[in-house]
Amino acid sequence: MSKITKCIILAAGYGTRFLPATKAQPKEMLPIVDTPVIQYLVEEAVSAGITDIVIVISRGKEAIQDHFDNSFELEKVLGEKWKLAELATVQKISKLANISYVRQPIPRGDGDALLYARPFVGNEPCLVLFGDDLIVGEKSGATQLIEAFWSKNAPVIALEKVSDEKVSSYGIIESQNSDKGIYEVSRFLEKPDPLETSSRLGVIGKYVITSDVFDLLQKNEWTVSKDGEIRLADAFAQMIREKPIYGLEMEGKRYDTGDKLGFLKANIDFALARSDIWPDLLAFLKTKV
Ligand code: G1P
Repeated sequence: MSKITKCIILAAGYGTRFLPATKAQPKEMLPIVDTPVIQYLVEEAVSAGITDIVIVISRGKEAIQDHFDNSFELEKVLGEKWKLAELATVQKISKLANISYVRQPIPRGDGDALLYARPFVGNEPCLVLFGDDLIVGEKSGATQLIEAFWSKNAPVIALEKVSDEKVSSYGIIESQNSDKGIYEVSRFLEKPDPLETSSRLGVIGKYVITSDVFDLLQKNEWTVSKDGEIRLADAFAQMIREKPIYGLEMEGKRYDTGDKLGFLKANIDFALARSDIWPDLLAFLKTKV
């Protein structure tokens, strides 16, 4: 059993759900308490054994590159002022993993973004993280997915049960077969009407994919979806006809930080888990309810 060491993080989207905050800064840099969402994603990947990460960015996302780079001037100032805890925090970020970047020139969907990263992963299976979803639990989402991948040797999609109202906001999978939380996918519906399916197994933006997923995306290059984009969801829907793919219900609490309410919930929960913040925050919250 070889290891999965490569990860693609998609961070090229406009972040329109967070305008005006994302007009001049990447949505992936919005902080949960004091740490940008994308740093949590890099840490998640690293916790699962990933050593090499490619982040797909676009124009205006340079702050992401600066965040993971050395920060010579800042480090010098922090050192001179003996702010050693802050210095360690800053230095840790640039040593997390080998991170490279590739730019998606035109926003043509997540499948198109993945194809820009393909040369970096070659034919190895790799972890794919979309820029929004955080999972807090005993094991990271990435670790759970990679373990499921090795038990099935086929692509694995992260899942969470969603409410009726959320069905049309997510990919939904149907399954007739499941074993220990791993579902064999029989149908993949992208953002369906809640009446179209009785399944409530929603897709979270975390996957382990194999090189044949890239092959399908490449084949689809000129057969784009209705909205003119190349989508990973379409490649999965097609792949089911040829070979099994699986979904894994994630253990832990999931936060969709790409959604305003999800972002606020993540901020409150992460702050309540911090010893330096929770007593005052809890006292404040109690005055509100
Ligand atoms: C994408 C996927 C969808 C998935 C969602 C998770 O949609 O296409 O299947 O449920 O991410 O966040 P997006 O939110 O990028 O439109």
